[in-house]
Amino acid sequence: MNKHRYRWIGRMVVLPILCLISCTHSGELKKKEPSVDELKIELGKRLFFDKNLSATGEISCASCHKPEHGFADNTKFSLGVNGHLAQRNTPSIIYAGKQPYFMYEGLIPTLEMQALVPLQDSNEMGNRMEDLILRLQRDSLYERLSNQLYKRKLDAYVLTRSLSTYVRSLSTKKHRFLSYMAGNKKALTKKQRRGYSIFDKKLKCTSCHTPPYLTNHQVVNNGLSISKQNPDYGRYHGTGKPTDFAAFKVPSLLGLLKSNPYMHDGRFRTIRAVVNHYEKGGSSVPNKDPRIQPFKLTAKEKSDLLAFLRAL
Ligand code: HEC
Ligand code: HEC
Repeated sequence: MNKHRYRWIGRMVVLPILCLISCTHSGELKKKEPSVDELKIELGKRLFFDKNLSATGEISCASCHKPEHGFADNTKFSLGVNGHLAQRNTPSIIYAGKQPYFMYEGLIPTLEMQALVPLQDSNEMGNRMEDLILRLQRDSLYERLSNQLYKRKLDAYVLTRSLSTYVRSLSTKKHRFLSYMAGNKKALTKKQRRGYSIFDKKLKCTSCHTPPYLTNHQVVNNGLSISKQNPDYGRYHGTGKPTDFAAFKVPSLLGLLKSNPYMHDGRFRTIRAVVNHYEKGGSSVPNKDPRIQPFKLTAKEKSDLLAFLRAL
């Protein structure tokens, strides 16, 4: 009787352990059989981090869009191939998947087309597409995944689809501001909430940086002075319209804290310097948007506003 009881107790202990092992085991099995969609993201991720995507094997997409800096870079102009510098400040691309068009001019309609730009730009990855495709086709893993997922050899179609699929997958990331907007008040501290109220109600920054992604996707002039050494007329370069003079796409502010410096030319090193720019109503430049007006804040209001912006 006693013996029997011990055996029974023994089984009670062993069974859950076995279950635990088999549960993790089946968890692993699941991981080994990802869905087609997950594999497409995985292929895109490998490509995004692969330096072989540049002509010299030095630069990957992630060399400029660094995960630890909100998929932006913490330098004014990122380093491309052969010691060249990108001509604009690298923007955060975490929420690019939520945008209707791309680049600071907002003139590129899809992420797939956007991917062609850095791959072929002589300051960024410096490729000729034909050479790049031949090089990537020699990678057996890429070839296998391309055939399995897209039923074709790796070509420009597969390359641009894969990269954009990965970039889109980033925008499913959780963010405390999105959680706040979805109704979780505690996602922001009291001070940050006061700062958001100043940003929204008092200063109407939300007329351009509209929730939830803190952009209305317009391409406008926010009153930055034109640099003498390196003048950049934004969308005007593409359209020649005076109403596009020095107009740039309103960026999402999610990922802001880690993605300094700021603006298309990285002219502001800190969030405080950005706020100072808006506080004086920007510079007097042609085509400045009428919503950019000087304002005054008390020291406490400014500190609250900065606390909110630093939470992004
Ligand atoms: C040398 C640095 C550099 C590399 C390498 C690079 N980028 Fe970029 N990326 C930039 C810069 C700078 C911009 C802004 C360009 C502009 O608007 O003129 C940008 C813009 C973007 C945008 C548009 C963001 C927006 O809000 O409009 C996406 C998406 C993007 N890059 C993805 C990629 C992908 C994918 C790769 C790899 C194939 C890549 N980038 C490689 C620097 C880089
Ligand atoms: C009229 C539209 C408009 C209004 C209003 C506006 N912004 Fe902007 N904001 C922009 C544009 C356009 C840019 C990008 C300019 C560039 O890159 O050259 C920008 C850029 C920024 C950036 C830098 C983002 C980055 O990643 O480089 C911050 C921070 C910012 N704005 C905060 C604010 C705050 C705070 C307010 C309110 C005081 C405000 N903005 C009001 C249009 C606006």
